[in-house]
Amino acid sequence: MRSGIRLYSSDRSCREPGATQVVPAHHPTAHVSRILVTGAGGQIGSELVPALRERYGADRVLSTDIRTPAPDDLAAGPFQVLDATDPLAVGAAAMRFEADCIYHLAAILSAVGERDPKLAYQVNMGGTVAVLEVARDQGLSVFVPSSIAAFGPTTPRDGTPQDTVQRPTTMYGVTKVSGELLCDYYHLRYGVDVRGLRYPGIVSWKAPPGGGTTDWAVEIFVHAARGEDYTCFLPADSRLDMMYIPDALRATIELMEADGERLEHRNAFNVTAMQLAPRDLAAVLAERVPGFEVHYDVDPVRAEIAESWPDRIDDSAAREQWGWASRYDLDAMVDDMLENLRALDHPHSEG
Ligand code: NAD
Ligand code: SER
Repeated sequence: MRSGIRLYSSDRSCREPGATQVVPAHHPTAHVSRILVTGAGGQIGSELVPALRERYGADRVLSTDIRTPAPDDLAAGPFQVLDATDPLAVGAAAMRFEADCIYHLAAILSAVGERDPKLAYQVNMGGTVAVLEVARDQGLSVFVPSSIAAFGPTTPRDGTPQDTVQRPTTMYGVTKVSGELLCDYYHLRYGVDVRGLRYPGIVSWKAPPGGGTTDWAVEIFVHAARGEDYTCFLPADSRLDMMYIPDALRATIELMEADGERLEHRNAFNVTAMQLAPRDLAAVLAERVPGFEVHYDVDPVRAEIAESWPDRIDDSAAREQWGWASRYDLDAMVDDMLENLRALDHPHSEG
């Protein structure tokens, strides 16, 4: 059921508590048929969109981003330039596409966010609120990712619980905690079926990472695949949760298709696959790439960000509530990354 676009308009009634409870609390997302993805041109979106198209049909997934994609990606399915912070534009795009669901990936990541905190606030908070308002207004379900960045230096570092202290010290982290709370609010108050994961650092080979603290875990592979040494911006022993992209895509889709009745948390689930420090990956890559070496030129800003995040999060809530289990361990990820990067003509590198 649709109630029309009335976002931030003179019609105040749609913004009154309970005025547009158009989504039942346990909306059956397994039957989602038409999906709008924001920030689709980024590290995760450039792989999630093809995965969603394979599952639900190419013409049923609208890829959107503030940037225009490469011609090959444009040919793969519908695309629209869309600023996710503009609620009227998001609402109009969702309405025109007859979307049932929005996967909201548009964001400014941690390192870029510390360079421009105001931009991070505007994009991350503005985008999340715009998408949630559209979802409330049009009766859509929503996926909104959070991050290990939603934790801070006072969070328990080892075995970080699902529910714990969250006092992050980056603007990115502040927007992630706020986004988690907003998602909870829209679910509790308006019945919007909003779900989300706290992604760890994502390792992938198709698109370069977007300016985060975990980008080193992609850059190191790109250099190794080219047979070049890598200079790492984090200290050798800076350990963080990581996950290979196929697991991240599967986690995302499995959560969105999970039985809502079983979801005690719904939003901001801890998920992890492995814990990696630069020295760990350097050692495994050196076994496969003769002569490969990692040097260190530590960036104090990113080192401090990494230091404020957990070493190992506890994802038992996701395991218990919707059956989450990672499949890729370190060896499997390394083999697959190297094989895929070596098959590319021009492996990307942000390093
Ligand atoms: P990314 O930086 O690679 O991509 C973000 C995309 O958003 C880019 O294509 C960018 O052009 C787009 N964008 C920026 N501003 C926009 C706007 N105003 N309107 C529309 N699009 C806009 O990010 P990603 O790694 O793909 O991350 C996707 C989501 O997952 C984000 O919410 C991020 O916080 C979260 N996440 C990512 C990781 C990771 O390791 N990649 C880890 C934890 C959480
Ligand atoms: N990979 C992300 C970052 O480093 C974590 O959310 O910003």
